[in-house]
Amino acid sequence: MVKIISITATVLLLSIPVLAADKDCLKCHGQGTDSKATKVDENSIASSVHKNLLCADCHDTINPKKNHRGNKVFACGSCHDSEQKAYLESPHMKGRTVNIDQLPTCNTCHGGHDILPVDNQYAKTNHLNAVQLCISCHEDETLQKKSDVLPEPQMIVAYENSVHGKALLVEGNEKAPSCIDCHGSHSFLPSDNPDSPIQKTKIAATCGNCHLEIMETYKTSIHGVALANGVMESPTCTDCHGEHNIKSHFDEESTVYATNVPKTCSECHTSEKVVGRFGLKADRIKTFKESFHGIANEFGEKRAANCASCHGVHNIYKQDNPKSLINKANIENTCGTCHEDLPADFAQGEVHTSADDPESGGKFFVRQFYIIFISLLILGFIIYRVLEYKRRVKRVE
Ligand code: HEC
Ligand code: HEC
Ligand code: HEC
Ligand code: HEC
Ligand code: HEC
Ligand code: HEC
Ligand code: HEC
Ligand code: HEC
Ligand code: HEC
Ligand code: HEC
Ligand code: HEC
Repeated sequence: MVKIISITATVLLLSIPVLAADKDCLKCHGQGTDSKATKVDENSIASSVHKNLLCADCHDTINPKKNHRGNKVFACGSCHDSEQKAYLESPHMKGRTVNIDQLPTCNTCHGGHDILPVDNQYAKTNHLNAVQLCISCHEDETLQKKSDVLPEPQMIVAYENSVHGKALLVEGNEKAPSCIDCHGSHSFLPSDNPDSPIQKTKIAATCGNCHLEIMETYKTSIHGVALANGVMESPTCTDCHGEHNIKSHFDEESTVYATNVPKTCSECHTSEKVVGRFGLKADRIKTFKESFHGIANEFGEKRAANCASCHGVHNIYKQDNPKSLINKANIENTCGTCHEDLPADFAQGEVHTSADDPESGGKFFVRQFYIIFISLLILGFIIYRVLEYKRRVKRVE
């Protein structure tokens, strides 16, 4: 027994690595040496963030006395544990559908001997440069075609034309997000992973890192509360704004530009799956389109009320909630933001009235009157034509 322990102890002792000194490596890899070995630029290491490290700190599996051609093992994780852990769980390590050689490693993104601190403007991983790093692969059509999970390059290009991309890349606004701010710097977990910052229930918090007030308001809204309660059909930020293609709400191409809002809300509020399940009324869009506002909106009149002018934007609540803009106590103010000197009761009538619904009163009866009137007119016309035809036939005879 004692023998076994002492043998194990000897083996353990022998296997504790004794780090080779740099001079051991530079004998062959140093500039001006005769060896065929690749020459290492020591200046590059000396001006990097790792200037105090030994060669063997990173190249920890190399024995200078043995042939080590082809050795590509780097011990980054021995000092950068948390980054390594995240990386090992990421799709960049566990490529779901592509080969490992198409995936980035620590040195693809950071470099080898020339690693600079992230806040150095020349670092590839700097906030202003990271996008370039990601799109070098993610806008590569050949690579994308090899993968079954990567989105089309156009979806990534959209980021560059988004309000965020333009702010960061064109205007140099460092407060605008790069890929990292939404995807994390090493984990990049896909949207179907519950821990991912882009999983549907996590998105509001991800955007909320910068749009804090909006996130706080959204969380109290009917949509935010429903999603928090597990109603996955309820919208988060990206359902209304898009993700890579987010535009300013003053931009006509934005999904939330005044005249595009009805279409954005209708993605769900006309969907049978949503209205049926939550006992909502399916006619909200139809009735809006029939209204003065809807018609004006259709013609590009952005001053006319759209869904959000009456219901709120991030503060949408049920009508019986005192905070709701269409609550009986608030609605006069809501209409009043655009209509001055309102006559009494102007605001209290139903808004989403349909001419097909008897409960709509006037609108319904006018529609019914027209239907009967026009039917009679057409009937009269047909009788007239028939009589006239008969008379002509008689005359020919
Ligand atoms: C911070 C960790 C680190 C340190 C310290 C380091 N290396 Fe490297 N070394 C790397 C990485 C990473 C690569 C791969 C480079 C790449 O792919 O861009 C590399 C590549 C190499 C190569 C292959 C040829 C090349 O340039 O690509 C040699 C030779 C080498 N290192 C020798 C050395 C020597 C000698 C020292 C000490 C003077 C040293 N390294 C210090 C991380 C390190
Ligand atoms: C006796 C000479 C000699 C010594 C000492 C030596 N190397 Fe090498 N090394 C070579 C030769 C030869 C090659 C193969 C040619 C090449 O790729 O540079 C090589 C290759 C390498 C590679 C590249 C592996 C690859 O193919 O990409 C690394 C990294 C490396 N050495 C690191 C080290 C480190 C670190 C030390 C010190 C711990 C060291 N070497 C000591 C001669 C030596
Ligand atoms: C896909 C590219 C990519 C890969 C692969 C990658 N990194 Fe990073 N890394 C980054 C970016 C981008 C940042 C800057 C993050 C930021 O701005 O907050 C960063 C930041 C860092 C930092 C600075 C501290 C921090 O976490 O912000 C360290 C240390 C680091 N990485 C180490 C590693 C190590 C070790 C590996 C390999 C296990 C690795 N990285 C793999 C892109 C990458
Ligand atoms: C022996 C420990 C050790 C090893 C091995 C090591 N590093 Fe580092 N690294 C450090 C230390 C210490 C710092 C901080 C230096 C400073 O702040 O001046 C650092 C800094 C960094 C930074 C900059 C962090 C920042 O805040 O901007 C990056 C990126 C980085 N290392 C990546 C790597 C990569 C990639 C590898 C592998 C090729 C590696 N490191 C290997 C110890 C190590
Ligand atoms: C060297 C090329 C390369 C670089 C650089 C790179 N990626 Fe990737 N990325 C890939 C490949 C390949 C996959 C995995 C595809 C697969 O599994 O089929 C991937 C996967 C992903 C995924 C997960 C996709 C999914 O649905 O599983 C995200 C998110 C991602 N990358 C974001 C980024 C970001 C952000 C950056 C910049 C910091 C970046 N990548 C840098 C090649 C790269
Ligand atoms: C404002 C936040 C934001 C920014 C900035 C951003 N993304 Fe995304 N990205 C998302 C969201 C949210 C999704 C999920 C879309 C979905 O659910 O289908 C996504 C999806 C992806 C995917 C597919 C992964 C998956 O699981 O669906 C990749 C790859 C990707 N983004 C890469 C990038 C790259 C590369 C950049 C930078 C050029 C970038 N993203 C910038 C928010 C962002
Ligand atoms: C139900 C749809 C919807 C959801 C969900 C939504 N938004 Fe909005 N958002 C809009 C509309 C519509 C506008 C335009 C408002 C206007 O024209 O004044 C807007 C405007 C904005 C603006 C610009 C105006 C401002 O007040 O600064 C930002 C930033 C914004 N939203 C961020 C977010 C974030 C972050 C989330 C998630 C926490 C989110 N939105 C959730 C519909 C939505
Ligand atoms: C890293 C911080 C950051 C993150 C994360 C972020 N944004 Fe932004 N966002 C900004 C900044 C800064 C601007 C202002 C850009 C400009 O116009 O100069 C902006 C602008 C916007 C605008 C346009 C504002 C307007 O006037 O209409 C919308 C909409 C928006 N963001 C939505 C989102 C959504 C949705 C998310 C999450 C998917 C998100 N943002 C994540 C920082 C961020
Ligand atoms: C991604 C789908 C989706 C989008 C987009 C969407 N909604 Fe909703 N909305 C829902 C769901 C689901 C509910 C029901 C939540 C519940 O009752 O738990 C709801 C509830 C509502 C309610 C409360 C209904 C009631 O019972 O009183 C209003 C008002 C509303 N939404 C208005 C809007 C407006 C305005 C927009 C556009 C700015 C919009 N929604 C965009 C899915 C959506
Ligand atoms: C001029 C103001 C106004 C506009 C514009 C407007 N609404 Fe309404 N909405 C109301 C009022 C008032 C109510 C409550 C009484 C009623 O049903 O007419 C209501 C009720 C609702 C309800 C809750 C009732 C239910 O059970 O489904 C939803 C959902 C809704 N509207 C969605 C929309 C959508 C989507 C749009 C845009 C296509 C829109 N609204 C445009 C004022 C408006
Ligand atoms: C965002 C501004 C805005 C809000 C809020 C708004 N409206 Fe309007 N409304 C308009 C504009 C602009 C027109 C003129 C449209 C046109 O060109 O026909 C209009 C037209 C009307 C008309 C047609 C008759 C007229 O006076 O021109 C009625 C009725 C009306 N609105 C009722 C309401 C009611 C009721 C509310 C509150 C529930 C409301 N509006 C909220 C902007 C608004």
